[in-house]
Amino acid sequence: MYVSIWCHSLNLSSRSLAIVLVVCVTLVYFSYSFNACLLASISRTLQQQSNLRNLLTLQQRNASSAAEANRVTNTSRSANGNSNSSTSASPSSNSSSSSSSSTTALLNSTVSNGVASVDGAPKYQMLRQQGLRPSRHLPDTLIIGVKKSGTRALLEFIRLHPDVRAAGSEVHFFDRHYQRGLRWYRHHMPYTIEGQITMEKTPSYFVTKEVPQRVYHMNTATKLLIVVRDPVTRAISDYTQAASKKADMKRFEQLAFVNGSYSVVDTNWGPVKIGVYARYLEHWLLYFPLSQLLFISGERLIMDPAYEIGRVQDFLGLKRVVTEKHFYFNATKGFPCLFKSEARSTPHCLGKTKGRNHPHIDANAIERLREFYRPFNNKFYQLTGINFAWP
Ligand code: A3P
Repeated sequence: MYVSIWCHSLNLSSRSLAIVLVVCVTLVYFSYSFNACLLASISRTLQQQSNLRNLLTLQQRNASSAAEANRVTNTSRSANGNSNSSTSASPSSNSSSSSSSSTTALLNSTVSNGVASVDGAPKYQMLRQQGLRPSRHLPDTLIIGVKKSGTRALLEFIRLHPDVRAAGSEVHFFDRHYQRGLRWYRHHMPYTIEGQITMEKTPSYFVTKEVPQRVYHMNTATKLLIVVRDPVTRAISDYTQAASKKADMKRFEQLAFVNGSYSVVDTNWGPVKIGVYARYLEHWLLYFPLSQLLFISGERLIMDPAYEIGRVQDFLGLKRVVTEKHFYFNATKGFPCLFKSEARSTPHCLGKTKGRNHPHIDANAIERLREFYRPFNNKFYQLTGINFAWP
């Protein structure tokens, strides 16, 4: 009644009244929607800021735990006479860069200084649940050579030890990929927990001129394992491998000597050149003391693998876990094969490319090569203090 009096006094028709009402309702609706949007947006911003704060706190906590883990590892390693002093030159030291990493990187839970990149795989989750922090480290130990002397056998045997973790394939960091940097190299290393040794094998390191200095710059305390074998058999093994990849390869005798006669040995031919071990060793000894090198006899690694692996474990400060119980002689292969556990389950032999049949080589050519190597072998025995008794 009041509305109608009011309308009447304002002289409004009922049609005009309807229009006014619709306009009012519309205004109220838009004003409500606008306010709701505004509130939602403010609350979203606040939520994002809080998430970011949480992530930063998480990252800081990860970084300090990783640094602590690294400090502990380094301490325990230096206690074993294996200090990582020179690794400070590695990219691992630029942890400050991690704080500027993007939110996406944070969400990936990666500590970008590379000390510890967290892997979500179940086996690592299990280790973390036990309070262990698996992370990648630069190698403590390298198998640097010599090609075709039994380097794969050595790696397969020593990695039976639970405290040894090794890169699966030859990384070739120090000879081919050095420009990629230590961070790249570390990324190729397996995850280890405290007390485990990180190992890598690339046999061409032994004969590549720049490598000793580069390894020295990574870590002056790096331990070096070198398998050596009678250089004549080694040359034939090297040739056999090359010939298996090239159908029209010349005969060994044609390649090992200049002018086809057996008088002049071709010292520029790779398979012959690599066998002059003393020359390469002298270069390594400019950077590393003999005490950091362990020489493993390739012949003995076949005849008595447990003996050689015992020496390797002692050298690395490891408990002698890999023993004769892990080996058996496989008559079909003609080489020792291994059991992956002491329980003698899962027998395993090296692949077809290891332990190949060699072609027949003229006895006179072999005799001439032996003569050629004799003074170099003697020099090598003198440098190492070991008589390998090669014929
Ligand atoms: P051959 O295939 O010429 O016999 P590398 O791993 O450094 O390339 O060395 C290969 C050599 O390792 C082989 O050369 C073989 O003689 C030797 N070797 C040592 N122990 C072995 C094993 N248990 N099984 C197969 N080969 C082994």
